[in-house]
Amino acid sequence: MEKMKKNKGIFITIEGGEGSGKTTQSRLLKEYLEKLGRKVLLTREPGGTLFAESIRKILLSPDSRLVPLSELFLYEAARSQHMEEFIIPALKAGKVVICDRFTDATVAYQGYGRKLDIKLINRLNKEATFGISPNLTIYLDIDSKKGLNKAKFLDKESYGSDGDRIERESVLFHNNVRKGYLNQAKKCHKRIKVIKTQSTPLKTHMLIRKYLDAVL
Ligand code: TMP
Repeated sequence: MEKMKKNKGIFITIEGGEGSGKTTQSRLLKEYLEKLGRKVLLTREPGGTLFAESIRKILLSPDSRLVPLSELFLYEAARSQHMEEFIIPALKAGKVVICDRFTDATVAYQGYGRKLDIKLINRLNKEATFGISPNLTIYLDIDSKKGLNKAKFLDKESYGSDGDRIERESVLFHNNVRKGYLNQAKKCHKRIKVIKTQSTPLKTHMLIRKYLDAVL
């Protein structure tokens, strides 16, 4: 896939297993970049646009009985809408786009987790993104069981729920997802930087900052 060089903006994605704290890190990164005077769009996948947020609800609802291929197509449907409506215009306007999860999540979850054909996933990712790939991807690495327990604890505390449809998958599934991310990071080591989650969000944020200079 082509790096985001045709347009003026900078495209950064934040990936990680469940409970890795990527949403907090995306927010801290946004605040930091804004302090540097950058215009930032913080968004997420699946989601962002109205339509894609509706797809997100279906994808994450424990009541949805989805076969793996339907799941894959829904993530890609949300993505193409998100790209055309949000990400591409923001990049063209010269913004820094921070996206909480993107195409690497599909390779990790639907490829390594659901065992769907990686070639098919790469093909659909390419179509849905119009060939645009991030300038930088941060992968926040955390032990799958530890992360999952943390995510489920927070869900219980905040919403009284037992986790979303994906969080309810087995530790084995989430271990495979983690393997997927780490393999991707090896393959695309220039773009994907692996950061182990630290004892505090601020410590993790400081490690992320080290990789920013190269893309700013
Ligand atoms: P999160 O953004 O709160 O982490 O929730 C999104 C969930 O969707 C998470 O479990 C990862 C999963 N996911 C996929 O399985 N495939 C994808 O392509 C994306 C973007 C997310």
